[in-house]
Amino acid sequence: MEIKAQTGKSLGATVEGFDHASASPADIETLKQTVYTQKIAVLKHQDLTPQQFLELGRLLGRPETYYEPMYKHPEVEEIFVSSNVPKDGKQIGVPKTGKFWHADYQFMPDPFGLTLIHPQVIPEKNRGTYFIDMGKAYEALPEELKKEAAGTYCRHSVRKYFKIRPHDVYRPISEIIEEVETKTPPVVKPTTFTHPMTGETILYISEGFTVGIEDEDGKPLETDLLHQLFEATGQLDDTFAHEGIHLQEFEKGDLLVWDNRSLIHRARHTTTPEPTVSFRVTVHDERKLSDEVAA
Ligand SMILES: [Fe+2]
Repeated sequence: MEIKAQTGKSLGATVEGFDHASASPADIETLKQTVYTQKIAVLKHQDLTPQQFLELGRLLGRPETYYEPMYKHPEVEEIFVSSNVPKDGKQIGVPKTGKFWHADYQFMPDPFGLTLIHPQVIPEKNRGTYFIDMGKAYEALPEELKKEAAGTYCRHSVRKYFKIRPHDVYRPISEIIEEVETKTPPVVKPTTFTHPMTGETILYISEGFTVGIEDEDGKPLETDLLHQLFEATGQLDDTFAHEGIHLQEFEKGDLLVWDNRSLIHRARHTTTPEPTVSFRVTVHDERKLSDEVAA
């Protein structure tokens, strides 16, 4: 196994020669440390079957199966499928996922530490996913904003981006909203927490899932602090030129593992939709999101 930092990039490493079938516990530990410190590990030459992909995931932690069944892979339910390519005339998984800044499962009480993506069909032109390292983004904040954010809490919800399911057609929107709020009520977490694996301070907010900011008594702040934090961290930059935004490209055979505690990500915007399919496995490692957020 050979690990190299990605040249000319602020984050990410490539990993050559990783084989999950023969990896030793020390290899797995090294890989995980690479993910925590470099934020993204791109494992080269993988081409795994769905079952093998899940096996690799299990070596890194305990898989979390997505709560909405329509995303599941037909044979391996732990795999979340993002696809706009019908298989045998049938929609598999869900198209156009994640086109907004978010951390996976940020709206849930117990988000997992690691996300794994194995792209299957890769767009010709607009390949890649955007990332922002919210540890570095916190570091770069003006002192004033850091001070304002200290001791506050954020409310996260899936409500803005919940995807209507086939069986929701003809249901009243109020009933669907009611179901979303009951099944996945908003969660409240500290605006910043300490990354349990690296000790960094993470600013845990995303434009997609963070719907409010409040004081320790749950009283919403009457300032535009949340907007300022989105702005400062590059989440409102539709040109994606902000210095904190990293475009991670990939090619066939790549398998990405990233740190879901510190990175927020966003699927690349495309004006002309191209065929794209990717499989995702998400796993809990040995720690909660953070000690402050222990569910
Ligand atoms: Fe995601």
